[in-house]
Amino acid sequence: MTDTIFHHKKILITAGPTYEAIDPVRFIGNRSTGKMGIAIAEAFAARGAGVILVLGPTHLRPKNPVIKVVEVETGDEMYRACLEHFEKTDIVVKSAAVADYKPAQAASQKIKKTDASFTLELVKTTDILAELGKRKTHQFLVGFALETENLLENAKNKLLKKNLDLIVANLSNERGEGFGFDTNKVIIMDRNNNLHNFELKSKEEVALDILNAIEQCIDKK
Ligand code: CTP
Repeated sequence: MTDTIFHHKKILITAGPTYEAIDPVRFIGNRSTGKMGIAIAEAFAARGAGVILVLGPTHLRPKNPVIKVVEVETGDEMYRACLEHFEKTDIVVKSAAVADYKPAQAASQKIKKTDASFTLELVKTTDILAELGKRKTHQFLVGFALETENLLENAKNKLLKKNLDLIVANLSNERGEGFGFDTNKVIIMDRNNNLHNFELKSKEEVALDILNAIEQCIDKK
């Protein structure tokens, strides 16, 4: 286990969706289950790393007791948890599907229906990854890009704009890829335009590909 560069490294991973409250019984969320991020957490833990998993609302949990799970519900809570651990972290992998917008105000009581139509005002949430990109000193930052079109172009833009070291890009419009599936098909891209194009495979196998890509990239530095 000591022959891996991840041994005793501190890893921060985010996974799952976020829920942004509309009222006490409703929220804005997405279809992420956290499966990919949990598989990445397991892969790092198996290589002897110290892993903190900041996990949005999902029924899935990692099996390895070494993984420290921090449960959060909202994007703001996820942001606070990331900031708390960021400084002491060596590698960050942000696989969470954070809501980009949240209700301007969450109603304190259940919103009752009326005969009129209803408009919900949304405000932007903090882009956690972009904020970590601004603050990074020694940390190796890995982001995800979930796209339905222009995969490479959009992923490259996110890599540069958020000051990442690697980005894991995947399309969400073919069967077997992305939210809720046991499989994923990803392209991993670094800052020098090196591309690794992978076949559709289990999320556990994709997690190993991601760790190998991180290792190669760190080795080259
Ligand atoms: N991300 C984040 N905080 C947000 C939104 C996204 O940290 N408020 C992170 C995700 O965890 C992911 C990366 O940014 O690692 C890209 O997320 P994605 O949803 O693909 O893209 P966005 O930046 O939200 O842009 P868009 O929705 O326009 O594609």
